[in-house]
Amino acid sequence: MPAVNAAPHVNSGPTGTDSFRNRCSPRQPVATQGSFPPNRRLTTPGPPALGLVGSDGYEDPASSKASTGDETIMSDHAAAEPHSQIEKLFDDVYWVQGSIRMGPGVRTNRNMVVLRQESELTILNPVRLDEAGEAALEQLGDVKHLVRLGYFHGVDDPYYVDRFGAKLWCQAGSDHHREPTPDVVMDESTELPIADAKLFVYREARHPECAVLLERHGGLLVTCDSIQHHVDWTHCSLMARLAMRAMGFMKPMNIGPPWRKTMTPEGGSLRPDFERLLELDFDHAVGAHGSVCRGGAKQALRNTVSHVFP
Ligand SMILES: [Fe+2]
Repeated sequence: MPAVNAAPHVNSGPTGTDSFRNRCSPRQPVATQGSFPPNRRLTTPGPPALGLVGSDGYEDPASSKASTGDETIMSDHAAAEPHSQIEKLFDDVYWVQGSIRMGPGVRTNRNMVVLRQESELTILNPVRLDEAGEAALEQLGDVKHLVRLGYFHGVDDPYYVDRFGAKLWCQAGSDHHREPTPDVVMDESTELPIADAKLFVYREARHPECAVLLERHGGLLVTCDSIQHHVDWTHCSLMARLAMRAMGFMKPMNIGPPWRKTMTPEGGSLRPDFERLLELDFDHAVGAHGSVCRGGAKQALRNTVSHVFP
């Protein structure tokens, strides 16, 4: 898998475009957009409770905190988990396929996407990287913004805020992970810090969840738990593979089964949201789990929606 070279030549041509394995056939907000409070450096990170972190059944990585760090404050954050190298998807668009320990012997993949605009980086679905990975990330640019897409994700947000002073963008009520407090509370009208990027909000969901459409390269849809393109087992342990297969995860452009169950209001349906999603123009997609769907993503999702919502 081609990776981003740590050397500062990241403006060169695509390094990974031919290598994709996975082609498709409320807490009170502290500010609203345009009004940023002083940076929050958490002196008491206050990790969320141990145990499950939402519908995906993740064990909170805070239970395996880093034992060392250059500062005490860094050691209070969840440790970096095994991950692949940063890979270029398109010009100024990168992803990292990381992982997360869900429980004893159970590890699955967890992804983040990095968007670059000039020297500034915006991270979607933040995943803490190891020392080498972080050095490669810093070669790409300055981490300025974190965009939380999923209600159940955010365990590494405090690290990025403390380490880079990044601003956190998330929806009102996205408080499954209560820290850090957001700098920007997003809604459908929010202008994102990346040109050609638009926010899609799941209006019917019981908890805040959104996605980002990058209107370039044929359209890249970035989701969190809502849509997951599972076509291989990278970073998945044997126990995770067995569980994921039993739970119906292993499908292209799949709507995460536990996520759908948790997010669907009683007597309601998420179908209107996915129908609106299918009105967007995108050919590629990547979620917080699984792999990149390069080409044919919309048709694959259309097939999924017609199957899930007959
Ligand atoms: Fe997840």
